[in-house]
Amino acid sequence: MAAAESLAAIVDRALADIGSSADLAVLDEHRVRLLGKKGLLTDQLKTLGALPASERPAAGQRINEAKESIQRALDARRGVLEADKLDRELSAGAIDVSLPGRGEETGSVHPVTKARLRIEAIFKQAGFQVVTGPEIEDDFHNFEALNIPADHPARAMHDTFYFPDGRLLRTHTSPVQIRAMRVLRPPFAVIAPGRVYRLDSDMTHTPMFHQVEGIVVGENVSLANLKAMLTSFVEQYFERPLGIRLRPSYFPFTEPSAEVDIECVFCSGKGCRVCKQTGWLEILGSGMIHPNVLKAVGIDPERWQGYAFGMGIDRVAMLRYDVNDLRLFFENDVRFLKQFP
Ligand code: PHE
Repeated sequence: MAAAESLAAIVDRALADIGSSADLAVLDEHRVRLLGKKGLLTDQLKTLGALPASERPAAGQRINEAKESIQRALDARRGVLEADKLDRELSAGAIDVSLPGRGEETGSVHPVTKARLRIEAIFKQAGFQVVTGPEIEDDFHNFEALNIPADHPARAMHDTFYFPDGRLLRTHTSPVQIRAMRVLRPPFAVIAPGRVYRLDSDMTHTPMFHQVEGIVVGENVSLANLKAMLTSFVEQYFERPLGIRLRPSYFPFTEPSAEVDIECVFCSGKGCRVCKQTGWLEILGSGMIHPNVLKAVGIDPERWQGYAFGMGIDRVAMLRYDVNDLRLFFENDVRFLKQFP
């Protein structure tokens, strides 16, 4: 029978082709050529119709057996080729243990972050809780509720970055006073560290810098409490007792207000270039929270008083780590950052 002979020949050739397929792509070409919809074996099945009915079952069975043996050969060859491919990929990616190591450098905490963590630890130990507020603020929290109405001259000092919709980048951490006092009921003590923004740039000013706000509200809270707390803070932060003085000042949200200086850490008050021969360094603004501010957040100023302060974190970081240009903190030069392991 001619048909049976050619079927056997097809299978022989197919098995040889499959066995010699060098890769999976070639193997797949053979699969399509042999078993695909327009493949050789499918063509064979189409010849069945021309046979007498009595011969069809036997012929059909032979074709199916041929298909199965081809399929088995394809499966076996695919298994071998896939294993080869995996071996090749694994050995290509192998690690050459004879290469010299690349070495690793240990990172370090940024000096401003170090200062902030130090400040937080000292105040936490004194019973303060740490809170935060948003850097994108509205006029109400940054100014209005702090007793700085729209026409107040103090606004001019803030060099504010505004968004087109009237929101702004907070110019100080004081808006967190408002946010905290609206939810906390006295007595409480909180600090609020974070980034603040002002349109300003020179050796001692950067458009973004850091402050930590402190707020204590309770019964019989006084300026004396503020001075005691700050004296203790300064001693812990600088690890030695330093003189401290309160200079009368003005902030719309505190009354009375004071700027706080510490004895110059470089010359111990004798006078040097850093303290401009004054012997003192300013580190923060402070005061007793203005009754209008307490009223605005629903705290009765007849019963409760509070003090507040806002300290420059970058400023005290410079003093503690002996950095003479504020901008160094924000350039991220590894040679600088490496000096604070
Ligand atoms: N917010 C003030 C500033 O940025 C500092 C301050 C805080 C003063 C709290 C008094 C009370 O200059």
